[in-house]
Amino acid sequence: MMLLWCLFLMVPMMSFLRDVRVSSCDTTCADKPVFTPSSLVVKFGDPTSANCSVCELACVNNQYGVESPAGVTRKDGTTISWTVDSLTEWSVSSLCFYSDDAGHQCCTFLPVTVYQPPQKVSISVVNLTGPMLEGRQYTLQCTVEHVAPVKDLRVTFYRGQTALGQPQSINSTGTKPVTQIFSVDISPGRGEDGAQYWCEAKLELGPEGPKLPPVETSQNITATVHYQPHLEGSSHPDTIRVREGELLRLNCSAVANPPPTYTWTYPSGRREASHADVLTINSTTVSDGGKFTCSVVNLLGNVTKEFDVELQANPTGIIIGVVVVVVFVIVASGLVAYYCYRQKRMGGSNTLHSAVPTED
Ligand SMILES: *[C@@H]1O[C@H](CO)[C@@H](O)[C@H](O)[C@H]1NC(C)=O
Ligand SMILES: *[C@@H]1O[C@H](CO)[C@@H](O)[C@H](O)[C@H]1NC(C)=O
Ligand SMILES: *[C@@H]1O[C@H](CO)[C@@H](O)[C@H](O)[C@H]1NC(C)=O
Ligand SMILES: *[C@@H]1O[C@H](CO)[C@@H](O)[C@H](O)[C@H]1NC(C)=O
Ligand SMILES: *[C@@H]1O[C@H](CO)[C@@H](O)[C@H](O)[C@H]1NC(C)=O
Ligand SMILES: *[C@@H]1O[C@H](CO)[C@@H](O)[C@H](O)[C@H]1NC(C)=O
Ligand SMILES: *[C@@H]1O[C@H](CO)[C@@H](O)[C@H](O)[C@H]1NC(C)=O
Repeated sequence: MMLLWCLFLMVPMMSFLRDVRVSSCDTTCADKPVFTPSSLVVKFGDPTSANCSVCELACVNNQYGVESPAGVTRKDGTTISWTVDSLTEWSVSSLCFYSDDAGHQCCTFLPVTVYQPPQKVSISVVNLTGPMLEGRQYTLQCTVEHVAPVKDLRVTFYRGQTALGQPQSINSTGTKPVTQIFSVDISPGRGEDGAQYWCEAKLELGPEGPKLPPVETSQNITATVHYQPHLEGSSHPDTIRVREGELLRLNCSAVANPPPTYTWTYPSGRREASHADVLTINSTTVSDGGKFTCSVVNLLGNVTKEFDVELQANPTGIIIGVVVVVVFVIVASGLVAYYCYRQKRMGGSNTLHSAVPTED
């Protein structure tokens, strides 16, 4: 019953709208109807209203009004008020019209933008299973669900707080909510390991729109970037001078993801794998002089660093040696002197002794 009644009411109205539009309703006439406000931006489901004042000069009887697929109109003199309790139409532009004596129709459109803030915004990386690799290109996708009108939608991708870019907006004139996918390409470097990517969808509805534009943000996705080892210091060979018996420390610190293993090759050719980036020898010996090589490897690549170790003789050793020689020389010369003296004394007593028998 209700449906029939609606149909009965709608059909003449729709046909009237079509009539007015088809019969070249003049929107450039001098004494045009005036809508206040002249345009509307309304959230789907919200109430709205506008007034139209017509024919200050001449109107033929009741040949004026407001036509719209939604809401109710009320005439108060030559002012027509149009109100909607809850706007649930996506295309709802209203028309205010009048006819003059000659049957000439004059009208004004009221543009109505019905908007729907994005219901859900989500971000993903196309075809990614596992970590990203340094220098490769990946596509980030931002999916904005159930938003209208799509032409006013602006999507921005972010890494942390840094805006990465705004993909081109959609030129669609569609008024109904749609789901739209935007994308940007990224080539993450090792600095982006652990970075958070997200996107933001904003409806830019102009000065007639809400003071704070509707904004919806996606979840964060954390990038894991794998990269081959890079040395933290210089990769040029370091020449290191160390005295025998002293501490030797070789630093081969490198950054890599996943964490690397270090293989140290000693001057003797001995190899030693370890997770330590620093090689320490507490007390060097002569055999530690020569070329050390550090090779840093993970599954993405490797890098090597060489160290030339110059071993210098220990100065305390020299001093001890000199002291030993000096002491030896002194002792030896003392002994020689003593021996000579003894020899001399022995010789003297012999003479004395021999003197005794001469006394006999
Ligand atoms: C329309 O006119 C009525 C009465 O003159 C007024 O109360 C109302 O605020 C007006 N509405 C708009 C949207 O200007
Ligand atoms: C993602 O993978 C699908 C099939 O698995 C393929 O058809 C598509 O081209 C890939 N997209 C990109 C951007 O590589
Ligand atoms: C995403 O990360 C940024 C910082 O990188 C933070 O400000 C924001 O609150 C995070 N958002 C969510 C939904 O966790
Ligand atoms: C939208 O239209 C503008 C100019 O009218 C054009 O430069 C732009 O490429 C169009 N964008 C898309 C996504 O079609
Ligand atoms: C090794 O070198 C790196 C970078 O040059 C430095 O950050 C680190 O502290 C050094 N390690 C040691 C044990 O000296
Ligand atoms: C080197 O000395 C440190 C402490 O001074 C000690 O912990 C370490 O075990 C020593 N390394 C070797 C190889 O003797
Ligand atoms: C290091 O990389 C080179 C090529 O850059 C390769 O020939 C070599 O086998 C690699 N070494 C290791 C231990 O992975």
